[in-house]
Amino acid sequence: MEFAIEIDNLNVRFPARGSTVQALDGLSLRVGLGEAVGFIGPNGAGKTTAIHVLLGFIEPSSGHAKIFGQDSRQSVARERIGYLPEHPDTYRFLTGRELLRMAGKLFLMKEKNLRERIDAVLRLVDIEQAADRRIGTYSKGMLQRICLAQALINNPDLVILDEPTGGLDPLGRMDIRKLIARLRDEGKTVFFSSHELSEVELVCDRVAMLARGRLVAEGPVTDLVAPGESLERFFLRTVAGPQSEQRATPTSREMGNRKQKGHRP
Ligand SMILES: Nc1ncnc2c1ncn2[C@@H]1O[C@H](COP(=O)(O)OP(=O)(O)OP(=O)(O)O)[C@@H](O)[C@H]1O
Ligand SMILES: [Mg+2]
Repeated sequence: MEFAIEIDNLNVRFPARGSTVQALDGLSLRVGLGEAVGFIGPNGAGKTTAIHVLLGFIEPSSGHAKIFGQDSRQSVARERIGYLPEHPDTYRFLTGRELLRMAGKLFLMKEKNLRERIDAVLRLVDIEQAADRRIGTYSKGMLQRICLAQALINNPDLVILDEPTGGLDPLGRMDIRKLIARLRDEGKTVFFSSHELSEVELVCDRVAMLARGRLVAEGPVTDLVAPGESLERFFLRTVAGPQSEQRATPTSREMGNRKQKGHRP
């Protein structure tokens, strides 16, 4: 099987006041072509660090990461990636359309193709009405959308989104959910981190859960959670122990029955 992402025994240590922080601790993970995989875990678990290694932003202390079979440190591995950072920001003096034009030029897109693609991604993230306004006048959610449009300008085969629904209202979150489903239906691979577990549940083929830099659970949601359990409750049970389950509020979803029993690696 060909994989979009292959991570093998990845370790990342950061220096911290005379000691080190082990941000990733022997992480191994695979994402198959055309899968939508949710990357979840508590704050500080190492999700963004893993994504940064995939994008070649940081060098791992040891281990390997590959994109479509190429070492992630090679720039050719990143040509097929679209990436939305955790805290998206961009050139605020440009209009949305100008930003997308600049991004397309960086990918050496031809004029006619570029014009069509700009219109398509503006439609996709539903920000056509503000396309000719300066980004400096955008709201936080609008900024998120235009940065997402930028991530998609090159029609990437692998879309990596670091908390794409952060800062979005419920409608915006639903739009992102639809977008992820649409990208997956188009055969793209989507790897995204999120704390919105009810949404992750709805849109993912599989989840990978990280805690303290280690993979603590991985698989289809229906395989992981117990019958009648939500992903949120599973998260609390797995990451913080049984007492924390009482903190989870039951949802209507939890009243329904799940057929398969879960397992952990
Ligand atoms: N540049 C850095 N220098 C030192 N420590 C770092 C650096 N980047 C990340 N860390 C540490 O590595 C650990 C993992 O951080 P990371 O940002 O990957 O977590 P995360 O899972 O993305 O968390 P969140 O859900 O809050 O975004 C944390 O302890 C963090 O403080
Ligand atoms: Mg993060």
